[in-house]
Order: sequence, then structure tokens, then C-alpha cells
Amino acid sequence: MPSLLELLRPDRRLALHLPVHGRGAALPPRLRRLLRQSPGSWDLPELPEIGGPLEAQGAVASSQARLAEVMGVDHCWFGVNGATGLLQAGLLAMAQPGEAVLLPRNAHRSLIAACELGGVMPVFLPVPFFSDRGHAGAMTVEGLRQSLDPWPDPGRRIAGAVLVHPTYHGYCAEIRELIELLHAKGLPVMVDEAHGTHLAFASGEGCPVSALAAGADLVVHSLHKSAPGLAQTAVLWHRSERVEHGRLQRSLARLQTTSPSALLLASCETTLDWLQSSSWTWWFEARRDEAINLIDALRERGVMLHPGDDPLRLILATAEIGISGLDADDFCMRRGVIAELPEPLCLTVCLGFAKHRGLAKRLAMIWEALAREGDGVPLPVIPEPPFQSPSIPELTPDQAQRHPHCRRRLAECADQIAAELICPYPPGVPLLIPGERISADRCQWLQSQHQRWPDQVPGMVKVLA
Ligand SMILES: Cc1ncc(COP(=O)(O)O)c(C=O)c1O
Repeated sequence: MPSLLELLRPDRRLALHLPVHGRGAALPPRLRRLLRQSPGSWDLPELPEIGGPLEAQGAVASSQARLAEVMGVDHCWFGVNGATGLLQAGLLAMAQPGEAVLLPRNAHRSLIAACELGGVMPVFLPVPFFSDRGHAGAMTVEGLRQSLDPWPDPGRRIAGAVLVHPTYHGYCAEIRELIELLHAKGLPVMVDEAHGTHLAFASGEGCPVSALAAGADLVVHSLHKSAPGLAQTAVLWHRSERVEHGRLQRSLARLQTTSPSALLLASCETTLDWLQSSSWTWWFEARRDEAINLIDALRERGVMLHPGDDPLRLILATAEIGISGLDADDFCMRRGVIAELPEPLCLTVCLGFAKHRGLAKRLAMIWEALAREGDGVPLPVIPEPPFQSPSIPELTPDQAQRHPHCRRRLAECADQIAAELICPYPPGVPLLIPGERISADRCQWLQSQHQRWPDQVPGMVKVLA
């Protein structure tokens, strides 16, 4: 096995995965210049002139204040623990222990961990499911309206709501209307826009709106998943009308390292500055236009793609040619292409912001070779999961994990209460949450998932003893 260090050396494989800077090719020019300087000279602590995200003085504080003003919000904080850390801080600022939050069923697992940390009850709201792709779509306004009528009753105060927009696969929600609907019910709204930073800096017809422009109270952007920053970088934007500033500061202080990397903080600043420049607009539009042309070229050559809202994410419909996305991923890897998100029925690649030459030809050749491997018989679709209505776990995730538990075969778990999370990663969308009662149909659905991806959905599950 090569050492980690050896694995970090440049290699010739094509990076169609996150982070979207494409192994440095699309990093902001000022950051690239910094990284060419004497190695390690930029690895600094919170010196007084640098400061940190929670300090009142220093370069970080002044960058955050400047960027918040430019983006038309009250505050922002840079994050060095990914969107994960900032989503958790946001949720814990919205909800106190013993309260509840509305979460979409496709919420990222970081939000479940936040519920666990804060003793918060998640109330799950359904999202559409694509049986032919085996994954969730984005929440719709009509769906949300139905979920809130009658108003879910978790037996405690519902303190806020979280939305995901766009999803990992790039499906966009009707975000403005969703936020308005939740605000009309008196709830603060945090939007997990980890995959949509670019939306906040793009304009033009047909470009989906960002939650920042749509009036969300808190928005989290991952600056490495949907902007060309270094891995782990993220930003939290805040409008203070519905979520108190002091609560956010305290929440961030609980979760953030006391030694944030100056390099990562500089990456946050430089990336956000670059996204506001005309050179970024040019760069982004060029990549987006190339992606649109690529999609047309691939379709012309017979490559089957599922439709999506973000041309920079391509969802290869491998099940249509009888190949699972997991096998297709191995196949691509052997041919020097690293994709992002393998699933039982499809394989998603992230084009990112680096320029790729000859990609249509290369992907089409891989597809043709892949098609020859399969028997051409489409794989069976994945039935809709049995969570198409709002659902409330019987225990909070933290209560469930503290109870005595035992391990059982999945097939024997009907009517038991889960004591662990089942969550394929990627995409990090949980299929089962600690504290949820496993109904018979849920048990059956999970077994079918286990057959499709046994490495990700275990055959043995911890349930309450
Ligand atoms: C929708 C969504 N939100 C949040 C995250 C967490 O982002 P990060 O890896 O930057 O912590 C992910 C990661 O996959 C995600 O897909």
C-alpha cells in the first residue's frame, strides 16, 4: 500500500470529483501564487494581525465584515471544518435542547449529528424520489405545503427549518417559495447550499436563484464543493432578524477548532473575492457553456444521462445499460477517470471548474466500452422508499444512542427502534436515523438497499435492546 504522501503526488488520472478546483487547475489565481511560495511559510496561527472567524479584530474579521456587506447580509463566518461544521453551528443556534427542527428527508448526515449533539428532535419532511435513479430530488412547494398541513406535532416547539438546495446531484428546489412558506409559519430557515455557492455569484436567464438572494436567514456554502477553494473551506451567511447573532457566535465557538488554519481562512477570503470578479464571471460562464455543449455531444454519441439542473454535474444512467453505478465507477477508475458519486443505478461525475480537453470523446469511449460489458438489460428500478409523509422518530438521536442496544440481522428488525445511523457516503443522506421505529415496509426497503450496495447498507443493524 503506498503511503498517504505518495498518494498526494500529481497523477495523470482525470479528476471528475470534488473539490471542484480539479487538483489545483481552477484555484483562485492569488491562492495559486501563495502556494508557490516557500513551502509552509503560510502555515500560521491566529497572530493578532490575522485573527480568526470569531475574533473582533484582525484580517479575518475585516474580510468577513466586508464580504457580508457586499453580499447584503448582516454577518458571515469562514469555516475550516467544511459545510459540516457550519451547518451544525447553524442548527444548534436555531434550536435549543428539547426543541425540534424540520429537516428534509435528504438532509446531510452532519445535521443529524447536530441533532444528536444538541438533543434536538428532527421532524423529517418528504422529498420526491426518482425510482429510475435511486435517489432523492429537491423538495417542491406543493410537497412542503402538504407536509405542513396538518402541522407536524413532535410534542415540542419547532424552532426552525433546514432546506437543501441544490442537492448533491445538482437538483434545484423552488427555493424562494419554500423559504416564504416557512417564514409565513414563523420559522427561521437555514439553507444547506453546499452544492450551490456558484449560484450566489452567477446571474443570467435560466440560472437558478441562490438561497442568499431568496431571503434565507442562514446559508451555508461549501467553498470546495461548488466554488474553487481548498478542501474543508466553507462560509456561513447570516441575516439577524430571526436568528440571534450571539447564539451563532456561541454555537460556532463550541464547534470550531481553536487553531483554524490561516491557509484555509485565506482560501475562504481569496475564493469569495475571486467569485466577485469579472474574470470569474468569464471563467464560470466558459465552464458552464462547455458543460452544456458536452452534454449535447455525449447524448449525440449515445451516452445516457439523467436530466439535472446543474450542467456541471453529469448523472450517467448506467442502469439503462445493465451496469450498476458502483461497477461503472470501478470501470472508470481502471481507465484513469475518477468519478464522484457511485450509486446502484447511476454514476455522477463533477466536471468542476477546471478546463477539460477531449472529454466528450473520452467519456463516450468509456461509455461504449461499458455498454459492451453489460448485457443491455436495464437494471430494475428502486421502489419509492416508505417515507413519503412527514415522520418523527420515537426518540431523539442522542436518546436512542444512549440506550442499551443489540445487533440484529436487518431482516429481523421490523418494529424495532434503530440505535444507529445507516447512511451511504457519498452522498451522506441517511436511510435510517437512530430513534426511528423500523416499520415492516421500511425493513423490507432497507433489505433491498442492502442487496444493491452491501458495503454501504449493512446487513446487521443496532437496535434498542
Ligand atoms: C448536501 C450536503 N451538505 C453538506 C455536506 C458537508 O460538506 P463538507 O464536506 O464541506 O463538510 C455535504 C457533503 O457531502 C453535502 O452533500
